Amino acid sequence: MYKNKISIIGTGYVGLVSGVCLADFGNNIISVDNDEEKINRLQNKDIPIYEPSLKEVFNRNFVENRIRFTTDITWAINESEVIFIAVGTPPLEDGSADLINVLAVAKKIGQVMNQYKVIVNKSTVPIGTGRKVEKVIKDELDKRDIEINFDIVSNPEFLREGKAVHDFTHPDRVVIGTESERARGILKEVYRALYLNNTPFIFTNLETAETIKYAANAFLATKISFINEMAILCEKVNADVQEVAQAMGKDGRISSKFLHAGPGYGGSCFPKDTRAIVNIAREHELDLKVIQAGIEANDRQKLYMVEKIKNILGDLSGKTIGILGLSFKPDTNDMRESPALTIIPELIKLGAVVKAFDPQAIDEAHWRLQKYEKDILFCDNEYEVMKRADALVLITEWNQFRRLDLQRVSELLKSPIFFDLRNVYQQKEVEAFGIEYYGVGVKK
Ligand SMILES: NC(=O)c1ccc[n+]([C@@H]2O[C@H](COP(=O)([O-])OP(=O)(O)OC[C@H]3O[C@@H](n4cnc5c(N)ncnc54)[C@H](O)[C@@H]3O)[C@@H](O)[C@H]2O)c1
Repeated sequence: MYKNKISIIGTGYVGLVSGVCLADFGNNIISVDNDEEKINRLQNKDIPIYEPSLKEVFNRNFVENRIRFTTDITWAINESEVIFIAVGTPPLEDGSADLINVLAVAKKIGQVMNQYKVIVNKSTVPIGTGRKVEKVIKDELDKRDIEINFDIVSNPEFLREGKAVHDFTHPDRVVIGTESERARGILKEVYRALYLNNTPFIFTNLETAETIKYAANAFLATKISFINEMAILCEKVNADVQEVAQAMGKDGRISSKFLHAGPGYGGSCFPKDTRAIVNIAREHELDLKVIQAGIEANDRQKLYMVEKIKNILGDLSGKTIGILGLSFKPDTNDMRESPALTIIPELIKLGAVVKAFDPQAIDEAHWRLQKYEKDILFCDNEYEVMKRADALVLITEWNQFRRLDLQRVSELLKSPIFFDLRNVYQQKEVEAFGIEYYGVGVKK
């Protein structure tokens, strides 16, 4: 356990999970955000995101005072030796990452720091950002005409939403990018629980650590686009993409992970990070052709789902489509870049009305789909969605959608047509109930 206090600036998905889990490792955490409402809620033990087991870990550390929440960034910086930056880095119009929040925090650190600090960047940032942060802090110290030693570390985060606590506490690897021996030693202490547990630690320089994060995400996103493209081909040539993926996955060099055909990837990371790395390369006059193609294939995949539905149902005007699942994947309420945000508006543009249900994302869907609200009815459960619908479309594979009462489904639907965009069901089992079934990547 690390003896000094640790601040985490930015208490969003990554900041909150990191703070809670680092507290659970025995560290003393100050969690900071400039969103007052969020901090008030957290101080009242009201967690703004849904993540399995987060509440439990949060409660035990909150009660033990190992994690505190504040909007007072100056106090937090001065109290702690290690400062994690975990603020958002959303995409700008041109796809590049917006560093405004990261650099604002760096500036603040430079303006108020009082002694040696390790500044650890956990946000996903363009390669070279670590150096920028270093320069911003240095410039602020120069303005104050003082010299205080500090080190910069890049420590990218690989957690998956929906499995965030598990991933943070059981990572495949921890990447620490820094040239400073002192900072390396401190980070080993911060992550002592993992270090002792034989988790692989990769110590490298700043730029390599920053590149690792983008390369890993771009590779996974491209793998999804690859199998999705195979799925379209399979539909045309009478092949079955699930069997193709299964056989490919048995090859140890390929692995079966991220080989599930579906409606395209979404979320807060893959779309943003793929566009950002393409942009970074462009600044160096390099075209990342493979990743660019993966991005385009993903955009096409979402629209291809609409095409598929339209081809079967014909004219959509006046038709009611039931939608199961709105979040970009199960076990999260996060809808950022969810395929549902493309598919639902497209269906509505084609004249359909939509009934939708999600176990966690309805609140978020209300504001994200506000523009279409007159054509969407949000329902209380999965069976409500199907009542008198002309077709059912499963977009997100929440567990409760994996065990639908198919007899009831067939009775509730006006016309029993089921588009299973996650290949959760077997064609034969669904068709046994008189329901027309369309998965992804199998010719019908
Ligand atoms: N969400 C993921 O699954 C995931 C996984 C790995 C890495 N990342 C990366 O981690 C970073 C954070 O992502 P997130 O999903 O947690 O974002 P988020 O939007 O959920 O949270 C960001 C938080 O930072 C706060 N913030 C912004 N500017 C601030 C400032 N100046 N001072 C204090 N607080 C400030 C915001 O109020 C917000 O609460 C991003 O770079 C993202 O790419 C995200």
